[in-house]
Amino acid sequence: MTIHIGAKAGEIAETVLLPGDPYRAKWAAENFLTDVQQVNNVRGMLGFTGTWKRNRVTIQGSGMGMPSLSIYVNELIRDYGAKTLIRIGSCGAMQESVAVRDIVIAMTASTLSTPSRGIFRELNFAPSADWSLLNAAVKAASSKDAKTHVGGIYSSDVFYDERPDLNEQMVRHGILGVEMEAAELYILAARHKCRALAVLTVSDHLLTGDALPSSERETSFGDMVEIALESAFS
Ligand code: HPA
Repeated sequence: MTIHIGAKAGEIAETVLLPGDPYRAKWAAENFLTDVQQVNNVRGMLGFTGTWKRNRVTIQGSGMGMPSLSIYVNELIRDYGAKTLIRIGSCGAMQESVAVRDIVIAMTASTLSTPSRGIFRELNFAPSADWSLLNAAVKAASSKDAKTHVGGIYSSDVFYDERPDLNEQMVRHGILGVEMEAAELYILAARHKCRALAVLTVSDHLLTGDALPSSERETSFGDMVEIALESAFS
C-alpha cells in the first residue's frame, strides 16, 4: 500500500494503462481484460489488474492534470515496480487536419508544467515518448479504422484557459492537440528509466468547436485501448 494506492505488493502489473477518468479504467478493464480484480479504490481513483492475451496489465485512473498523474505514476514506479506506462485519454485537436474521433500518438509533449518547472527552471527539457512503444503503437494503429496522427502535443495545466496566445503558438508550431497529463508522464519515465507513451482520442476541436457527444465517448475510445495494449506487448 502507498498513500494513494491501496493495492497489496504484487497486485500491480509491470504494464500500466493510465486513463484520467477512473470510470474509464473500469470500462476498459471490463471490456478488454479477463480475470479482472479491482486493486484500488482510494479516493475513488479506481485501479484494476487483469489479463490481456496472457499478459498481466493494470489499468489505473490517474486523475486530471499533471500534479494528480504525478502522484500515481511516482507510486506505481517507485513502490510497485511499474515499467511500461501508457496514458490513454482524450485531447482537444489544434490542427485543421485532425478531427474528432481521430487518434493522436504523442511523440513529444510540450508544457509549461508546474511539476517540472521547479526541477528544470530555465532549461527546456524535451519530454518524449519511448521509441519502442511509439513505433509499435504506430504499427498497431495502421490496422484500425480510426485515422491516426503522430507528433507533438501540448500538456496544459488548465482546461479553462486564460492565455489564448499560448494555444496560438502551439497551433502555429504544428502541435496536434492539447491535454493535461502526458508531459509529466514522459518526464517521470525518463527519470526512472521506464517506458512511456500517450495514445489519445480526439474528443473536441479547439479550432472548429466540434465535440464528441457523450453517448459516443466510450465506444470511440476502444481503438485507443487496443493500440495501447498491442504496443505494450509487441
Ligand atoms: N484542453 C485540455 N485538455 C483537454 C481538452 C482541452 O481542450 N480536451 C480534452 N482534454
